[in-house]
Amino acid sequence: MDNPFFIQQYGGPEYFCDREDEVARLVESATNHRSVMLHSMRRLGKTGLIQHLQQQLTTRHKYTCIYLDVLDTESDEAFVSQFISACVRQLYKDQSNMLSKVTSFLGRYKPKFSIDTITGNPAIELDIQSQQEIDMSLEATFDLLRESKHPIHIAIDEFQQIGQYSSTRIDATLRKYISQSDNIQMLFSGSQRHLLLSLFNDPKKPMFGSVEQMELYEIPYAKYSEFINLMFSKGGKSIDDRVIHNILKWTKSHTFYTQYICNRLYALDKDVVEEVDLLRLQQQVFKEMQMTFLSYKNILSKNQYEVLKAIAKETSVRSVRAKAFTTKYGIASSTAQQSLDYLVDKEMVYEKLDENGSEYFVYDLFLSRWLEQVNH
Ligand SMILES: Nc1ncnc2c1ncn2[C@@H]1O[C@H](COP(=O)(O)OP(=O)(O)O)[C@@H](O)[C@H]1O
Ligand SMILES: [Mg+2]
Repeated sequence: MDNPFFIQQYGGPEYFCDREDEVARLVESATNHRSVMLHSMRRLGKTGLIQHLQQQLTTRHKYTCIYLDVLDTESDEAFVSQFISACVRQLYKDQSNMLSKVTSFLGRYKPKFSIDTITGNPAIELDIQSQQEIDMSLEATFDLLRESKHPIHIAIDEFQQIGQYSSTRIDATLRKYISQSDNIQMLFSGSQRHLLLSLFNDPKKPMFGSVEQMELYEIPYAKYSEFINLMFSKGGKSIDDRVIHNILKWTKSHTFYTQYICNRLYALDKDVVEEVDLLRLQQQVFKEMQMTFLSYKNILSKNQYEVLKAIAKETSVRSVRAKAFTTKYGIASSTAQQSLDYLVDKEMVYEKLDENGSEYFVYDLFLSRWLEQVNH
């Protein structure tokens, strides 16, 4: 049997753990015509959740679902080209004359067809150059979407990317179409909180107050441990509850790291997975990542590296200027805050907000666990 722990993409409902409340909430939003902005830390499961949601919207609620990831777009023109490509690919999916349909519909934007080498899906690139072309091509596409017999769900992943364009009117443009199209619901998803929130929470921005917000958290312990147990036993393997407990403690239930460790443990040629297997794997992972982790010492200043290491050793920190912290780790208190700001900006440290203020921890869990145990 193939490895049931997916670490690159959505593997289908049988290999998906929980998220029932989240899916129910997102289905409820979509079917009641409310668009949503979904955010969380990286690798916690946003993209997986979107795929799972759209799978259910398609099979149970007869939606036409469109998904696009805009991480590699750098302008409104590129965004719109990608957006339209995703829409027509889905709308014309089952039609034998797809190419000629697209050509007659979008011919003026000189569509170029290719096959995505990774997914095997047809890809369409459009030559959109001006604001006028953006408006006209989008207008035509939304007309097409509005004609659909099925309700439509459009998920735009890594949406914070539009905050990196030199200038953008995408948010204003999409806002206009959201309010005009009752059969189209959108989901905006991303992980850079400050960028994403500034698009949605700034009263001066067009998206302000127009979409519901949802943060994704870790999968609950009981659900994850039951899932891990089930996946091993379905494959004719067994794993002790103690081992599962240790995995979830070590990965802090962060989805990607949990999936990754389980994937590697499952891949061992063993019927019974024991505590010693987990301990060996942890050392193995450190060994494999060591070169990358060691290179941070060269990239960062001494003080930045020391702050990073100290945060890892503490697991999490509320203030890097606190005397107890700087003294314990021999950190120059004058530059501690500056180092922290740099590490947060580079996404090496994650800033978690709660009612008591900010809490900081090392973003990459494997790096955090590695730093915890180094002496240099
Ligand atoms: N509920 C889940 N059950 C099992 N695997 C999941 C689940 N959610 C996400 N994953 C897997 O974990 C990995 C990281 O999740 P991903 O959705 O890519 O995170 P994000 O989009 O937040 O960065 C992916 O390989 C994904 O398939
Ligand atoms: Mg993602």
